[in-house]
Amino acid sequence: MTKVDGIATGVPRRTAVACGVVLAGAAAGCARYGGPAAPPTDAPAVENAGLVLGEASAVPVGGGAVFKEQKIVVTQPAKGEFKGFSAVCTHQGCVVADVADGTINCGCHGSKFGIEDGAVATGPATQPLPAQEVSVTADGKITTGPAQEAPQTTDPETTEPPPEEQTTEAPPPEGLAATGDIPVGGGKVFESEQVVITQPTEGEFKCFSAVCTHQGCTVATVTGGTINCPCHGSTFAIADGSVATGPASSALESRNVKVDGDQISLA
Ligand code: FES
Ligand code: FES
Repeated sequence: MTKVDGIATGVPRRTAVACGVVLAGAAAGCARYGGPAAPPTDAPAVENAGLVLGEASAVPVGGGAVFKEQKIVVTQPAKGEFKGFSAVCTHQGCVVADVADGTINCGCHGSKFGIEDGAVATGPATQPLPAQEVSVTADGKITTGPAQEAPQTTDPETTEPPPEEQTTEAPPPEGLAATGDIPVGGGKVFESEQVVITQPTEGEFKCFSAVCTHQGCTVATVTGGTINCPCHGSTFAIADGSVATGPASSALESRNVKVDGDQISLA
């Protein structure tokens, strides 16, 4: 097994949850398919450890490959030295397009990042791409997280017992906004949480991922009944996140929120 470089950092976790909350009903009766969206942090990206990205052979020496679905870019600055980074451009959140000429390149506004350390080579981005730990398995697959340990061969008597199961409930998420912050017929983008909350009709709150389904920019505004992406002009309906104007071709992902009194929080 090849141990490879990489520093774990938080790649914003994306969840797919059905949504729709009516003020009077507090917690909505909509199905949840994933956990709450975590705000971007420096927490290690252990939650997606072990995710198989693809073949190591797809990552050329001196270049790299973008795994768009997983939003991770893997480079190989020197033979056998693999590095992983978030593929979400730190400028406006597009997913980077390719790795060429020694840099990781964003197609939206031309930012480039070094394949060695993700540092900005060309703006307008000013922040490096966050590192993402990756490993290569014995059979040549790139996975997220650290290299997997060899199977346990120790005497079971000397084996440490498994850690106690976590029994404490995670603290409830803090209120994201007051209902009064969300205009009727409009909405508000919460950039750090990467969500947008809308109020299509009075008392009816909806929540969507703020990540544009075109190339991953963060949507910027809610005006004229749509959620608007600044990168290439896609707009999405505030009622259901569906595409109102392309180039995006799929709806914004729904997110689950709850309303408690006048406080809206991610569920
Ligand atoms: S250069 Fe990447 S989003 Fe603008
Ligand atoms: S990323 Fe292209 S329109 Fe949003």
